[in-house]
Amino acid sequence: MSTTVVVCGTINVDTFVSVNKFPVAGETIIGEQGPQSLGGKGANQAVACALMGPHTVLLSAVGNDPNGDMAVAELQDRGVNVEYVEHTDLPTGQAFIMNDSEGENIIIVTSGANQVVNPSLQRPTVQRLRQQGSVPVVLAQGELTPEHSALLPRLVQNSDSRLVLNLAPVTTRDQDLLRTANPLIVNATEARDVLELDFDTPIEQVLEQLTKLSQSVVVTLGAQGAVVVDEGRSAAEAVWIPAVKLDQVVDTTGAGDAFVGTVAAALAEGATLVEACRLGNAAGALATQKRGAATSYANAAEVKALGAQAQQRDA
Ligand code: RIB
Repeated sequence: MSTTVVVCGTINVDTFVSVNKFPVAGETIIGEQGPQSLGGKGANQAVACALMGPHTVLLSAVGNDPNGDMAVAELQDRGVNVEYVEHTDLPTGQAFIMNDSEGENIIIVTSGANQVVNPSLQRPTVQRLRQQGSVPVVLAQGELTPEHSALLPRLVQNSDSRLVLNLAPVTTRDQDLLRTANPLIVNATEARDVLELDFDTPIEQVLEQLTKLSQSVVVTLGAQGAVVVDEGRSAAEAVWIPAVKLDQVVDTTGAGDAFVGTVAAALAEGATLVEACRLGNAAGALATQKRGAATSYANAAEVKALGAQAQQRDA
C-alpha cells in the first residue's frame, strides 16, 4: 500500500522583479525583471513534499493558457501527481514578487483559476485515494478563498488523515478549520494576526492562546528557527528548534513553503512533529540558496544531510 500526501492549494506563475530597496507608497523605482517560474503555496509545498519521497497529489486548478501548461509541466517534472489539477476558463493564478538586496520579498497574488478550488468537490477523490493506500496527511494553505478554506476539514473528517494547515496568508479565522489543524503552521506575524493580537505580543502568550485553538502548533521564527507545541502538550512544554544557518541568503521566496512541505512529508513517513520540523528547517535554509520558489528546492539527500548536521550541532 502506498503512502500519499494530498495537497489542496494554489498554483501560480511567479514573476520576479529585483530592486535595491522596496518603494514606499507613491514612489516609482526602476527594477530588473527576473525569470518567470512555478509558484503558489500549494504547488511549492507539493514540490517540497514530493522531493522528500511520498507520493504527492495536488488538488488545484489552472487556466487553459500557456502559464497553466508551464506550471503543470514543472510540477510533473518535480514528481507531483497532477492528475486532479482542473483546467478552467479563468486565467492561471499569478504572483508578482519584488526581491530586495537583502533577499526579502513583497508578494501580490492574483488568484485567477485558484478561486475554483473547492475542497467539498474533492472529497470523493481523497476517498478514492484512501482506497488505494494510506493518506496520513492532507496539506493546505491560506491561499484559497476564505469560503473554500472553511471547507477543508471535510477532506479529513471521519478518516485517519491529519490536516497540516499553513495559514499563510491569514484569510480566515474559521474556528472549525483551526480546531482541525494538526498542526497549525504560521509565522510569528501570522500567529498574532490569527489571534488579532498586537505585533509585539510576547511569543509565550501567542503560543498559550494558539494551543487552545488547534491540536498542535508550529510557529516559524525566521532566523530564530521554529517553536513546536505538539498534541497534548501545553505552551509551557514548547520545544524550540534553532534555525539552520547558511553563509549567504540569495532569495527567501518559497523558503517557508519548503519548510511546510518537508514537515508534511516527514509526518506522513512517521516522524514526530519535532523531528519533522528539524528537517523542515534544513529544507527552508537550502531553499534560500537559489532564486525562485519551487525551482530552488533541494533534494531529499541534501535536506537529510543538512538536518543531521544541524541536529549534531544542537545536541
Ligand atoms: O510562498 C511563496 C509563494 O507565495 C510564491 O511562490 C507565490 O506564488 C505566492 O503564492
